[in-house]
Amino acid sequence: MKKKIIIKVSILFIFCFWVARWICSLPEVAIENDPKVSMTLNTGEALFWGKGTCHVCHRIGERGYALRGPNLGDSKEGAVVAERAKHRADSLNLNSAADYILQSIAQPGVFLVPGYNNEMPKVYQPPVSLYPSEIKAIVFYLLSLAGDSTTSAFELPAAIVKYYDASQESTFKITGDPASGHQLYFALNGAAACVSCHTAVDSSGLEMGKSVGPDLSAIGLIRSPEHIYRKIIKPDSNIVSGYEDLLIKTKNGRFFTGILKSEDDLSVILLDRVGTETIIQKKEIARRLPQKISNMPMNYAELLTEKQIQNLVAFLTLQKRSRED
Ligand code: HEC
Ligand code: HEC
Repeated sequence: MKKKIIIKVSILFIFCFWVARWICSLPEVAIENDPKVSMTLNTGEALFWGKGTCHVCHRIGERGYALRGPNLGDSKEGAVVAERAKHRADSLNLNSAADYILQSIAQPGVFLVPGYNNEMPKVYQPPVSLYPSEIKAIVFYLLSLAGDSTTSAFELPAAIVKYYDASQESTFKITGDPASGHQLYFALNGAAACVSCHTAVDSSGLEMGKSVGPDLSAIGLIRSPEHIYRKIIKPDSNIVSGYEDLLIKTKNGRFFTGILKSEDDLSVILLDRVGTETIIQKKEIARRLPQKISNMPMNYAELLTEKQIQNLVAFLTLQKRSRED
């Protein structure tokens, strides 16, 4: 009797062990790229039926209640979405089922499933705000519904990545101290010496500085803190129009560079980095070559500490002079 029980328990044990091993050997799709979680197929499923809100509009086969959007499972409306997506990808000249599904998510309006309106929200934007990695997880989940457990990487559409990057930037926090930024800005012999090229309003309310670069006394009204931050560490981004560097070659082979300060029928005036003006007669000019480079020093990221840059940003964000002349 005892022996029988032992045998039964052993068989049960072996069976459980085997099931456990089988479960563990199921492919687990790890999806790279943040936010500090490793995503799996399960995550994709949970997101579809949860945070992703897909279930508010889509059913999958018999599962779910929604009627607003197409059923994404095997149903009256067609084969399971991954199959359907292959045909749609072919007719839309997309590479793969994944690309079609991604397009449906990135730009829902580009191709409308016949019989439906352009009603699907951009789920990477508020209020749903899925992360890029979460969108990937959902796409893997939808592909897996057709038995496709490919884990081969695919690229997210630029619309999603761009939106995400921009939203990251706008979480920029001003951590600097405006008073220290003020000091650094106006110190002619300091590491920044912004005042040697830009005017701004100092603590006594006076506008001070040279005008090699644009006036910054109202910069806080027109530029975000992160824009100002980026401009300091990477001047070549977003060059202010009218302030591009101009390279002029004269007929006798000389070169001049600077910002075009003014121009009339006879001559042009260039303003160089230290504020010196050069007048060049038009009849002497052989070529004018606008340069895609900024006249701002390129090495602030090395010259200044992160704290100093933050201080400057804090100071400039408060430059909100209003005037009409
Ligand atoms: C407010 C309703 C709504 C929500 C929420 C929604 N969708 Fe949609 N979806 C639609 C509608 C309507 C269509 C059909 C029109 C079109 O093609 O854009 C559609 C189309 C699709 C298609 C193309 C289906 C086909 O047959 O070609 C896919 C794939 C898709 N949605 C995936 C998703 C995923 C994934 C989510 C969640 C992250 C989601 N949808 C959230 C309404 C929604
Ligand atoms: C040698 C001259 C020079 C110095 C020094 C200089 N800049 Fe500039 N800056 C320019 C010029 C020229 C432009 C316009 C061309 C461009 O956008 O790159 C400019 C553009 C800018 C802009 C963009 C303004 C706008 O309207 O979008 C900001 C912000 C700025 N500078 C901040 C600074 C700060 C902060 C410092 C000091 C750390 C500094 N600059 C030092 C020459 C200078």
